[in-house]
Amino acid sequence: MISQTLREARKYEEASEKMIEQEMRPEFHLSTRVGWMNDPNGFSYYNGEYHMFYQYHPYSSHWGPMHWGHAVSRDLLHWTYLPAAIAPDEVYDTDGCFSGSAIELPDGRQLLMYTGVSKQRLQDGSFGDVQAQCLAVGDGIDYEKYERNPVLDAADLPEGASAADFRDPKIWRKKDGTYQCVAGSRPADGSGQILLFESPDAFHWKFRTVLASNRNRFGLMWECPDFFELDGKQVLLTSPQDMLPQDFEYHNGNGTLCLIGSYAEETAEFTEEHNQAIDYGIDFYAPQTVLAPDGRRIMIGWMQNWDTSNLHSAKERAWFGQMSLPRELSIRNGRLYQQPVRELLQMRCNEVRHENVSFSGIIRLDGIKGRRIDMEIELFPGDVQEIYRKFAVRFAQNDTYQTSVSFRPHESILKIDRKFSGSRRAIIHQRRSKVNTVNGKLKLRLILDRFSAEVFVNDGEQALSATIYTEQEAEGISFFADGQVRMNVVKYDLV
Ligand code: FRU
Repeated sequence: MISQTLREARKYEEASEKMIEQEMRPEFHLSTRVGWMNDPNGFSYYNGEYHMFYQYHPYSSHWGPMHWGHAVSRDLLHWTYLPAAIAPDEVYDTDGCFSGSAIELPDGRQLLMYTGVSKQRLQDGSFGDVQAQCLAVGDGIDYEKYERNPVLDAADLPEGASAADFRDPKIWRKKDGTYQCVAGSRPADGSGQILLFESPDAFHWKFRTVLASNRNRFGLMWECPDFFELDGKQVLLTSPQDMLPQDFEYHNGNGTLCLIGSYAEETAEFTEEHNQAIDYGIDFYAPQTVLAPDGRRIMIGWMQNWDTSNLHSAKERAWFGQMSLPRELSIRNGRLYQQPVRELLQMRCNEVRHENVSFSGIIRLDGIKGRRIDMEIELFPGDVQEIYRKFAVRFAQNDTYQTSVSFRPHESILKIDRKFSGSRRAIIHQRRSKVNTVNGKLKLRLILDRFSAEVFVNDGEQALSATIYTEQEAEGISFFADGQVRMNVVKYDLV
């Protein structure tokens, strides 16, 4: 039942994970078991646990033939690895089991829906990748590929859509018991579109409609869609490749896009009302959501950026790829809000609180340091007549290293800068984001794990994520103000 390819991957990961010490991994962010990880896949709740699968190349810390890695968790923060779920071992997926999703079937089995990639002779006579949607059914550990794979292929595409760019199905079950899925596609205009498919039983699929068309507005090909209702609105998440920056949005090359709108389910018409990036930091892509049993919509993204991902040597990194914090989503004033899952509060300990700290210049505060922390900062102008020019918090700091989050109230610009985090590559190290501020007030929540910093601004109005590979000894935190700042700081260790 289990192919030779999958058996080898399982044997390999079990033997090689031992070479990665616990302290060399993130503490509460899911990282690859061994080798390489990209997109979150099959994020679901099944048999009392959250399941997370991921794009996985166990054999090196670089992208390669895609398997699905697998881990489970009860609180979304402590993960246990399970054996690799699927491997590229069939004619229709020999070149990779690309991204997809998971769902529980009425008979209690778990269904994985993924993209099979295989090289085939194309219409123009050349040889190239063809992508088609496939199924595997299992018990939460072992999965069997469906004998009639693929269930959606080029023949199911609307006129003009490319057979080479058709991927990343996200499946859900409707109230009436039937199924739908969305997938990324490339229409004749060379950009992207999201297709909607439907099925009575999750096994027999047919095309329904083009749900959304890029028309070259936001990058080119649209990858990894997700589509759901949230707070009375309809949300389409996708990760466009090759984006052009617009103002302070979409600076990440292969970036993220959140379209908020309304949806007429009967006619499957999605009307866009608002667009924004999902994350405003450096490292975030291909997020996927799950509907938790308690009704929360929770999102996890791949906390990396494609353009900075395959640059390391195997010696530098035994593993590569981690997920973002799980984030609870909501919509306020037509914007997507993100807050770290409330489960994180359970990990908080050693509270250190400093209130009404008025300062200018550089200060350090008693007990404020650490590399696995949850810290909230409330900023106010120290002098209402003359609002400060700049505030910064510097962390993962010692004599050699630091990363900073700085804020210029007069320009309403927040900046994350990891230039001095220890990177030896001339890659992008800073990102600026426009934030909402009135009179120099701002709320920041900074969450550090061993190899990342995530900033949540104004109770989740914006999130900025960045990986940092600074050595763990650099655990200092200092504050800087040009002008007079008053602030409240509370910090917890996360253990
Ligand atoms: C997005 C992506 C997906 C694809 C997968 C391959 O990061 O390009 O579209 O399924 O990665 O690993």
